[in-house]
Amino acid sequence: MPLLSSSHSCLCNCNLFAAITLILSLTPSLQIPLLAPISKDDTTQLYTLSLYLKTPLQPTKLHLHLGSSFTWLTCDNSTYTSTSYHHIPCNSSLCSSFHPTACSTCFHSPAPNCATNACSLFPENPITRNTLLATALIDALALPTSDGSTHSPLVLISHFIFSCSEHSLLQGLPVNVSGLASLGRSNHSLPAQISNSLSSPRCFALCLPGSSSKPGSAFFGSTGPYFLSSKTDLSKSLTYTPLIVNPVGDTVITDNAQPSDEYFINLTSIKINGNPLSINASILTVDSNGFGGTKISTAEPYTVLETSIYKAFVERFVNESSAFNLTVTEAVEPFGVCYPAKEFTETRVGPAVPTVDLVMHSEDVLWRMFGGNSMVRIEKEGVEAVWCLGFVDGGIRRRAAVVIGGHQLEDNLVQFDLESNRFGFTSSLLLQDVTCSFQY
Ligand SMILES: *[C@@H]1O[C@H](CO)[C@@H](O)[C@H](O)[C@H]1NC(C)=O
Ligand SMILES: *[C@@H]1O[C@H](CO)[C@@H](O)[C@H](O)[C@H]1NC(C)=O
Ligand SMILES: *[C@@H]1O[C@H](CO)[C@@H](O)[C@H](O)[C@H]1NC(C)=O
Ligand SMILES: *[C@@H]1O[C@H](CO)[C@@H](O)[C@H](O)[C@H]1NC(C)=O
Ligand SMILES: *[C@@H]1O[C@H](CO)[C@@H](O)[C@H](O)[C@H]1NC(C)=O
Ligand SMILES: *[C@@H]1O[C@H](CO)[C@@H](O)[C@H](O)[C@H]1NC(C)=O
Ligand SMILES: *[C@@H]1O[C@H](CO)[C@@H](O)[C@H](O)[C@H]1NC(C)=O
Ligand SMILES: *[C@@H]1O[C@H](CO)[C@@H](O)[C@H](O)[C@H]1NC(C)=O
Repeated sequence: MPLLSSSHSCLCNCNLFAAITLILSLTPSLQIPLLAPISKDDTTQLYTLSLYLKTPLQPTKLHLHLGSSFTWLTCDNSTYTSTSYHHIPCNSSLCSSFHPTACSTCFHSPAPNCATNACSLFPENPITRNTLLATALIDALALPTSDGSTHSPLVLISHFIFSCSEHSLLQGLPVNVSGLASLGRSNHSLPAQISNSLSSPRCFALCLPGSSSKPGSAFFGSTGPYFLSSKTDLSKSLTYTPLIVNPVGDTVITDNAQPSDEYFINLTSIKINGNPLSINASILTVDSNGFGGTKISTAEPYTVLETSIYKAFVERFVNESSAFNLTVTEAVEPFGVCYPAKEFTETRVGPAVPTVDLVMHSEDVLWRMFGGNSMVRIEKEGVEAVWCLGFVDGGIRRRAAVVIGGHQLEDNLVQFDLESNRFGFTSSLLLQDVTCSFQY
């Protein structure tokens, strides 16, 4: 496969790189996004991003996380083989652009995870909230471009910065991943480093797959167009709401005054079948301690609602679903409301149920969810299949009052546009007969 170099040091293929950046900067409508497939793990309900790392390039799977300030992966001696890695000196400006850091010393022979005067970071697992201290590394990263042709050239980012980690930090993540891909707001996240290296827009889009059998897609460094299993540009279907910064970070090892790397949006109300719930508006606003508000997170498989919102939501949903001739049956954990599957009419966008609208900063900006996103089908041997309302009770005094989780994002295209500081969403692409897989 042809490799296009985009290194800072620009050791080779400089002309090709110059040509690519020229196209990107002169004709914004022809931005070439980098693409990565996303897969869903049935055991953990988490999502995995596939990319290439090291020299020679090795396919690598990382847990997709919409937060964290940097990417991390295990680099013990036996698994980390690369001819191109190097450490970051402790007193460099690159090292001090991370918060917090430590400086490592090595008492063995030097290795990826062992070096002296090596800038070290605190990688964190967002599922278990475990953390440890490990050296930072710079090595090669590559992703394919989407050029609409049958062979897709890889674009090389030769100075990709990330943190090492240990095998123990992988606990709670899908079995085949070797670390975490940070898609957070930070200047060192995966999308930020791609955009900084290629001088492409600080914007990425995701389409999470609804099943483990079909891959989904991530597009980096482009505000569109986006083509999935369709000939229509899906960026035209996006509706936007401002992204909000939570002023208080939520990492285990913190450095004062670092804002959160997570994505918050201005959810102001929830409507079921068009009727608004009464919600205490103050908990939908992020306060000065970082509490309240609505964030988007792939660390939660299902949307989590603060108790008072959850109660109002369930009560109203059950009320509205009586018009659909649905009668509740025994609930299945972790859900509170389930219905026998045989009572449902199936539609293109899942079982027919009352619509759930997330109302954003303005009354007319709605993110509409149909049965495929609001309901979860549960089949167990010897028990009648049920559809359960796929929202869970998060208890009181939650850091975020609403966490929009993975299931509610599936088969939707969502865009995180840091150029315009806005979040774009489409509603279910199944309405347009489009799935999340991309075509070369
Ligand atoms: C960093 O430390 C090394 C070794 O201690 C030293 O040679 C170098 O000048 C320092 N660089 C800066 C930018 O302080
Ligand atoms: C890593 O491997 C190298 C070469 O095989 C060896 O010299 C070194 O001692 C190992 N380091 C550790 C920390 O195991
Ligand atoms: C993990 O990888 C192994 C070997 O590549 C493969 O056989 C297995 O199906 C994978 N498991 C999952 C859950 O992806
Ligand atoms: C982000 O990182 C790039 C290098 O990767 C650097 O040139 C730029 O100044 C940084 N921006 C900010 C706001 O820190
Ligand atoms: C709304 O929530 C805030 C913060 O939790 C609380 O102080 C206030 O009393 C609540 N208001 C109502 C009407 O429940
Ligand atoms: C639904 O709620 C309305 C008022 O909001 C109430 O009049 C009606 O009786 C409720 N229906 C059911 C089935 O609970
Ligand atoms: C609900 O059941 C009633 C009585 O059986 C029927 O008249 C009505 O059409 C049904 N409504 C729906 C939405 O299926
Ligand atoms: C959220 O939207 C409401 C209604 O438009 C507005 O009053 C409020 O200032 C917004 N909050 C933020 C943090 O932008």
